[in-house]
Amino acid sequence: MYDPTQFKGAARYYRHGRPPYSAQLGDALADELGLDGTGRLLDVGSGPGTVGLQLAALFEHVTLLDPDADMLAEARAYVAAEGLAAVDFVQAAAEDLPDLQLQRMRTVTFGQSFHRTDRLRVAEAVYDALEPGGAMVLIVHDPTRPAPQQLPDTPPIPHDEVDRLISAYLGPQRRSGARPVESYQAERFEQTLARTRFGRPRVSYAPGRSDVVRDVDGVVAGFLSMSFAAPHLFGSRLGEFIGELRVLLERASPTSGLFWDWPGDTEILIAERR
Ligand SMILES: C[S@@+](CC[C@H](N)C(=O)[O-])C[C@H]1O[C@@H](n2cnc3c(N)ncnc32)[C@H](O)[C@@H]1O
Repeated sequence: MYDPTQFKGAARYYRHGRPPYSAQLGDALADELGLDGTGRLLDVGSGPGTVGLQLAALFEHVTLLDPDADMLAEARAYVAAEGLAAVDFVQAAAEDLPDLQLQRMRTVTFGQSFHRTDRLRVAEAVYDALEPGGAMVLIVHDPTRPAPQQLPDTPPIPHDEVDRLISAYLGPQRRSGARPVESYQAERFEQTLARTRFGRPRVSYAPGRSDVVRDVDGVVAGFLSMSFAAPHLFGSRLGEFIGELRVLLERASPTSGLFWDWPGDTEILIAERR
């Protein structure tokens, strides 16, 4: 069941704060799926359009679908500013797919969003939404993959210290909307998809970007874009939290005020409708 408070207040920080996926994501998918600029893409849980707009040139039309109106407003503003054509927007949850009567899709992507859905039911609905030979693609950062190199003189974001600060404000139990964060973690996607008509997906990796550098504002935006640190969770103490976070970050990178942000390689799961 979709919880509208998950990302409440987070959308305006998302594009500025989140690291991008692999620069080779489009090439990797074009090779894997034979994409050639035709067919339609549906990006589910699109947020501000992160995946859908990165892949737009590989399709003739892109639909961005998200239940969060503020995320879609960010996507709309970006599409207008970039003058992108052939993009439309649907405010709905993935679970609504069977009722939406969208045209058949060549590809349906989920960027860090499949775990937020009723997975088995949604995967089956995606199967029906695809044209024969089409594919469902699940995309996430995998930060456990070692970085090829760390940027010199640019410290990594001090995640442990920031985690402690967030806990001091919000308590030890992390929440995403009304639920504990852990409740969104379940079996691996491969196992879930193996129980659907898709069968077991294939997995590949596109190399992550090892040159992402953020200033203090960018790191603050990154945390406020996360559901476990979304602005509404801090209530009237939001300003105080941001102030303390800024001081922590300025101490952690006193010379340049910059941080290295290694998002990890981009993991790509592909499940095809045969
Ligand atoms: C972490 S963001 C990912 C945004 C973007 N796809 C990306 O890769 O950066 C997760 C998105 O999933 C959306 N979401 C949450 N529950 C959903 C559901 N049941 N169906 C579709 N989208 C959902 C949220 O509103 C949010 O925009």
